[in-house]
Amino acid sequence: MRKKIIFATQNEGKLKEIRAIFGEMDLAILSMKEAGIDIPIEETGTTFEENAIIKATAVVKAAGTLALADDSGLEIDYLNKEPGVYSARYAGEDTPYTIKNQLLLDRLAGVKESQRTARFVCAVAAAYPDGRVFTVRGTMEGIIGLAPVGENGFGYDPIFYLPECGCSSAQLTMEQKNALSHRGKALCAIKEVLYKEGME
Ligand code: IMP
Repeated sequence: MRKKIIFATQNEGKLKEIRAIFGEMDLAILSMKEAGIDIPIEETGTTFEENAIIKATAVVKAAGTLALADDSGLEIDYLNKEPGVYSARYAGEDTPYTIKNQLLLDRLAGVKESQRTARFVCAVAAAYPDGRVFTVRGTMEGIIGLAPVGENGFGYDPIFYLPECGCSSAQLTMEQKNALSHRGKALCAIKEVLYKEGME
């Protein structure tokens, strides 16, 4: 029987990405819904790793099966790494990203390019039923542009400019972004952890 692991997310996009990256492994990756787990999880951590661990350990406790979880966000150096772990909640969870992005651009008004450095960060945690917990981190470096550009992606992608690509991350195709992204890198790194530590 194929081994099962649970990825602690409700987000179909993330599941698609993790299934593509884990494709060669003989593994069934279930969402919380597919695993029949419906527990409220509060992201009370102050680091990406803490939040990923909170989610993964809550799910392993509820399901008794190896669980993975991620937490991600945007760090802008000039703003002391804001919005950071609060990226989804920045200016209010339900505020549209057109407004969140404009707010950040306004806070960077007049700031020169060399000081507009930023990165997307993704931490992934693996929590085993025997209590072992591992975390990995992936990053994608860039700068905050002067205006939103591009229609692909989501969230802060339109204002995140990748100098080496000459475009914003909202102008990359999904395949291009997955190959470069913080999440893609972190998922590849956790895959190595699972190969090393086992899958149950
Ligand atoms: P999470 O789903 O709790 O990890 O929240 C991640 C939040 O960080 C998202 O809601 C976005 O605001 C932001 N974020 C993370 N990764 C990306 C990305 O690849 N593009 C744009 N925004 C991102």
